[in-house]
Amino acid sequence: MKLSRRGVIQAAAALGAVQVLGCASSPKAGPGPGSAAGDGDSAPSKPLNLLILGGTRFLGPALVQVAQARGHTLTLFNRGKSNPGLFPDVEKLQGDRDPNKGEGLKALAGRKWDAVIDTSGYVPRIVKASAELLAPNVGQYVFISSVSVYKEMTKKNLSESDAVGTIADETTEEVGEESYGPLKALCEKAAEAALPGRTLNIRPGLIVGPDDGSDRFTYWPLRVAKGGEVLAPGDGEDPVQVIDARDLAAFIIRNVERRTAGIFNVTGPVEPMKMKGMLETLREATGSDARFTWVDSAFLEQQKVTAFGDMPAWVPRTGPESGIGAVSIARATQAGLVTRPLADTVRDTLTWFHALPADRQEKLRAGLSAEREKEVLAAWHQAKGTAKAG
Ligand SMILES: NC(=O)c1ccc[n+]([C@@H]2O[C@H](COP(=O)([O-])OP(=O)(O)OC[C@H]3O[C@@H](n4cnc5c(N)ncnc54)[C@H](OP(=O)(O)O)[C@@H]3O)[C@@H](O)[C@H]2O)c1
Repeated sequence: MKLSRRGVIQAAAALGAVQVLGCASSPKAGPGPGSAAGDGDSAPSKPLNLLILGGTRFLGPALVQVAQARGHTLTLFNRGKSNPGLFPDVEKLQGDRDPNKGEGLKALAGRKWDAVIDTSGYVPRIVKASAELLAPNVGQYVFISSVSVYKEMTKKNLSESDAVGTIADETTEEVGEESYGPLKALCEKAAEAALPGRTLNIRPGLIVGPDDGSDRFTYWPLRVAKGGEVLAPGDGEDPVQVIDARDLAAFIIRNVERRTAGIFNVTGPVEPMKMKGMLETLREATGSDARFTWVDSAFLEQQKVTAFGDMPAWVPRTGPESGIGAVSIARATQAGLVTRPLADTVRDTLTWFHALPADRQEKLRAGLSAEREKEVLAAWHQAKGTAKAG
């Protein structure tokens, strides 16, 4: 079954800007915004000045929250288009990452920061420009890459030393399904070339939680909470990996404090999860009466129900991108990755989603429509000679 790789990697926020920063987390359940990297709530050794190239859609706001909770000072550099009212007390510098557009990176010239976190780099030329400009003025460059960089997408346990994908035209600036991963890999290289030994390349899996404008993952808590017969993809045994943006942010900020360099796959949960476990956790967390009807991938393919797109977060273990559902996070866990219980992510995601404007709530950006789900379930029962879900 063909996945939309772009679905795995595309910044959720690129699909729609967040409305509000609804990142409140429970004080008792799981790590809070400033904690999650495995060394308790220890205070940072010294407050840092941090620059984020971006900062106002999804991962950026989570980074700001964690950094502020840890006592650091922030500057955000962006065009002022996405959620311009966010963080009124944080310094904002306006410009374009592309040095060929408007004032480009001019606002960054002559300023110094302890570290820069680049959440918005997709094109090597553009990452090179910011990395070279900032190299003399920052201690560390953190580039947010993706697990989609890997070449062998079917390989299990993909680790940081595995080969990355390549692209015939390395100068292309068309960021699409096929080019996204190889371009991210070239961006990592550009950052490392400008700041050798001072670059931290982070390769996240699917980022989820409050503020995720893509609705990938959010589809599942909403669908399970609604209850009744739920179309569940595969046989329940496919591994699934997601990372709450707040846990990812906590990992990044802690490793900025430690000046960690190198490459890290960062996804979760730390305890491996399968689709069945995920959906059962969602049912428990939402207190719903959902009944799961597991429909195999061959039937879904016949019905043109796509992995990841129509069935978000699902990566069939026999599919062409099966490795992406089960990458190794051994390095990250050694470097302190902690993931909060999925139930906490579910609760906070639903709270955030239900506070969005009604018209936004009506139009989910991922997953099957209710009508289509019904049709596919009916076809499945007819094919199997079963009347109702078990
Ligand atoms: N979502 C996922 O599941 C997933 C998975 C793996 C990796 N990733 C990676 O994680 C990162 C997450 O991104 P995010 O969108 O959540 O980050 P973010 O920092 O919250 O938002 C993106 C920021 O970039 C700014 N920006 C965009 N284009 C710009 C330009 N030309 N010049 C200056 N600023 C610009 C935007 O502000 P303005 O629009 O105001 O300029 C915004 O502040 C991405 O690199 C993505 O590839 C995501």
